[in-house]
Amino acid sequence: MGTDRIDFTGKTALVTGGSRGLGLAMAGAFAEKGAHVAICGRKQENLDRAVQELKAKGLQVLAHPAHMGKADQVDALFTAVEETFGRLDILVNNVGMNLPTPSVAEVEEGLWDKILEGNLKSAFLASGRAVPMMKARGGGRIVNISSIAARKATRGMGVYCVAKAGLEMYTRVLAAELAGDGICVNAVAPGMVRTGFSKPFWGNEALLQQITASIPMGRIAETGDVVGAVLFLCSSWADYITGEVVTVDGGGSIL
Ligand SMILES: NC(=O)c1ccc[n+]([C@@H]2O[C@H](COP(=O)([O-])OP(=O)(O)OC[C@H]3O[C@@H](n4cnc5c(N)ncnc54)[C@H](OP(=O)(O)O)[C@@H]3O)[C@@H](O)[C@H]2O)c1
Repeated sequence: MGTDRIDFTGKTALVTGGSRGLGLAMAGAFAEKGAHVAICGRKQENLDRAVQELKAKGLQVLAHPAHMGKADQVDALFTAVEETFGRLDILVNNVGMNLPTPSVAEVEEGLWDKILEGNLKSAFLASGRAVPMMKARGGGRIVNISSIAARKATRGMGVYCVAKAGLEMYTRVLAAELAGDGICVNAVAPGMVRTGFSKPFWGNEALLQQITASIPMGRIAETGDVVGAVLFLCSSWADYITGEVVTVDGGGSIL
């Protein structure tokens, strides 16, 4: 590693759900900092668009279609990463999704399963494949993308809150289990970020004003705000940090 401690030259990073939004921004940032990068997503057209966008910036990634809730597809993704790069140093469990839900007492079982699968099981499946690869090289970094919803019971998105809270405990348990193997496991919990995921909120001017009024810094996050925290946690500046959740919300949750 050179003088820049956020330098991933020679390392391999897998960003799940890297074809749009936060994941795409992270993938580009890892590649700019010298990493070999792999991304995945369910839809080939999103992956193709991401590859083109990164190529236009002179960056290359391995883009592999995979639904991260399906074990066989996760296996195929990790096989592709192993065959292409021969190692994995960094895993960002970025895949996540949400749908409007009624009370957590009344939500239909299929919807409960889908949201838990997208936000929690996806991280479990990917981490299970990543850990042996990291152990084989004496260490690694896992960053799970949570949400401030993990700590704030919110009507209409209760299952998502439960799933992200589970992801934060998964982060702590995995961190404790892997601390002796040189693998640091942390989470990043963003507030609202300007991506397609949250467009129904920030795309509505009245709602956006209401949201920004509740954020001390007076704005929602751009993807770059979150990327910085992820890169820091994967860098040598964070060698002694594990089991932590870094909140990136412009101060929204301190009020
Ligand atoms: N945006 C926000 O305001 C916000 C706030 C807090 C936390 N977060 C969290 O940040 C993470 C990224 O969110 P985002 O805003 O970037 O979302 P996004 O714009 O909707 O992008 C989601 C990405 O994940 C992929 N994806 C979704 N489900 C997948 C699955 N089951 N398997 C494989 N790929 C899948 C999507 O590609 P395909 O559709 O092609 O599969 C896409 O690349 C999520 O965990 C989210 O919960 C977001």
